[in-house]
Amino acid sequence: MLSKRLMDEMNLQIMYELASGHLYTAMEAYCASVNLEGFANWLKVQTEEERAHGRLFFDFINKMNGEAKIYGIEEPQGKYQSLLQVFQNGYEHEQFVTDRIYLLADIATEEKNHAAISFLKWFVDEQVEEESNFLGIIKKLELIGDNTSGLYMLDKELAARVYVPPTIAV
Ligand code: FEO
Repeated sequence: MLSKRLMDEMNLQIMYELASGHLYTAMEAYCASVNLEGFANWLKVQTEEERAHGRLFFDFINKMNGEAKIYGIEEPQGKYQSLLQVFQNGYEHEQFVTDRIYLLADIATEEKNHAAISFLKWFVDEQVEEESNFLGIIKKLELIGDNTSGLYMLDKELAARVYVPPTIAV
């Protein structure tokens, strides 16, 4: 079972994961509006991942005899001036999510809730990947600068991303 404190924070995490998806869909819209379909695809896949993350918390809370809750989510910032700005915002957002996951892991550890610790371990590892993915694209964009053929090649690379469901079962 889950303590009220841990369940409340996990319920908030459902909202943060769904809000992440909302944010990345807004970023996808910007990329599509400037005809960068590969970047748009990458963010679309990212949105699918975030919804899956929210679902994992939803299912875990219910399985632990708690009650999952769905809160409202805010309208994401939708005005972007550049791709670099999009991915820097995404990177900062993922750092925020990492802090949230660490908070949950700290609570689970303090409460010696080993089921929650085991569940959250997957998210700790996933956040390493999430931050690295955004930072990797930022570094490539910085290298590319104003080189349009470099941008075209990166767009093609990002067009190849496909959604892979989480490797964790609840
Ligand atoms: Fe679910 Fe991108 O953190």
